[in-house]
Amino acid sequence: MAGMDYVSCNECGKRLFYDGNGVIREYMYSAKTTKSLTCDHCISKLKKKIEKLKNMIEEDIKMKLEDIGFYTLSDKRAYNTTIDSQMQRCEMIINEYCNFKCPYCKGLANEVFSDRKRKELTIEEIKQNIDLWCDNGPLVNIRFSGGEPTYHKDIIEAIRYSKEKGIKRIAISTNGSNKKEMYQRLIDAGCNDFSISLDADNALMGDNMAGGIKDSWLKVVDNIKWISKITYVTVGVVLELKNIDTFIGIVNYASSLGVADIRVIPSAQWDKPLTELTNIKNSVLNKHPILKYRVANFIKGKKIRGLSYSDANSCPLILDDSVIAGGYHYPCVIYMREQGNPIGTVKKDMRAERIEWFKNTNTHNDKICTKNCLDVCVDYNNKAT
Ligand SMILES: C[S@@+](CC[C@H](N)C(=O)[O-])C[C@H]1O[C@@H](n2cnc3c(N)ncnc32)[C@H](O)[C@@H]1O
Ligand code: SF4
Ligand code: SF4
Repeated sequence: MAGMDYVSCNECGKRLFYDGNGVIREYMYSAKTTKSLTCDHCISKLKKKIEKLKNMIEEDIKMKLEDIGFYTLSDKRAYNTTIDSQMQRCEMIINEYCNFKCPYCKGLANEVFSDRKRKELTIEEIKQNIDLWCDNGPLVNIRFSGGEPTYHKDIIEAIRYSKEKGIKRIAISTNGSNKKEMYQRLIDAGCNDFSISLDADNALMGDNMAGGIKDSWLKVVDNIKWISKITYVTVGVVLELKNIDTFIGIVNYASSLGVADIRVIPSAQWDKPLTELTNIKNSVLNKHPILKYRVANFIKGKKIRGLSYSDANSCPLILDDSVIAGGYHYPCVIYMREQGNPIGTVKKDMRAERIEWFKNTNTHNDKICTKNCLDVCVDYNNKAT
């Protein structure tokens, strides 16, 4: 119809001006081309959204890394790490063998132990690695993992050596199924952090999640209960299609075993939002800082895994945090488990290679980082950059 024209809100499409006779058409035409017309209702909605985001950013800035519950991470570390400050932490994958067959576990890339007869590091290699990382003073934290590291014949010697070198926090990742005597020996040698996997709240599913190992779940929970009375224990719960329906049951059960914390994580392959996180009781959350942190993040709309657009695009964490698996060093354990390329071979100047990797890697262009990076690493890198 001649002389009719209108302009609409860019957000909701509602008509804002209507000109039946063309008197203000010129004005409307210029308004349309600026593409910035928004109705009052949408403006107030956008303002609320901006306010919410501002509060979230302020909360994140105020949040201290040491309050998350991962004791290796702190604001001080994030602000003070330089390319020549002392290494803080090393995770060493010492063997491939495992007595379990968890459905989600991808094992190690072939290159890790390549053509070795025994798919493990020798005690001499383990000691050499420790020496290399303790070159300028002791590491603060070390973690032994595998495979199942409690089945490495020299694990006690490795722990003892770490203690002798002055490393304060000596951790082991275990499926919790070894004999009590073994765990006692590890504690006696100086191990003071046990991360134990628990993926079920009942024996039937537990044995099934271990790959059909009869009576394994009972042994694991018995060990978790017992070790928790002596030293720091966290339980790692990997969630996937098989066990997601029992999520709350697993968390409540793990908490009842007396553990210090519970690390829930969707398996790398499954990686669905853990909506059930909001159903955990406050009485449970208040006992476990890492669990509480993950729930708070979920409520804020953050992911457990993966980078968001606004996150840092470099990874200063790798400057003083390292993973050695077989004869190689990798950016981080997530990277190694996802079978990403190593940074290089284990050698004296590997720190220099890590610095180069840090300088040359835009993590937003790296498929493993963008999809798998963990919330705590993201928070650390956001603070440290
Ligand atoms: C590979 S295991 C090695 C140490 C030991 N065998 C254990 O199970 O704790 C180390 C950790 O990686 C986790 N894990 C293994 N495969 C995973 C996956 N696909 N996604 C997420 N976590 C995984 C395990 O649950 C465990 O907490
Ligand atoms: S116990 Fe650990 S290493 Fe063994 S299959 Fe399970 S996750 Fe993998
Ligand atoms: S996955 Fe995260 S912690 Fe690992 S290298 Fe990438 S950005 Fe760094």
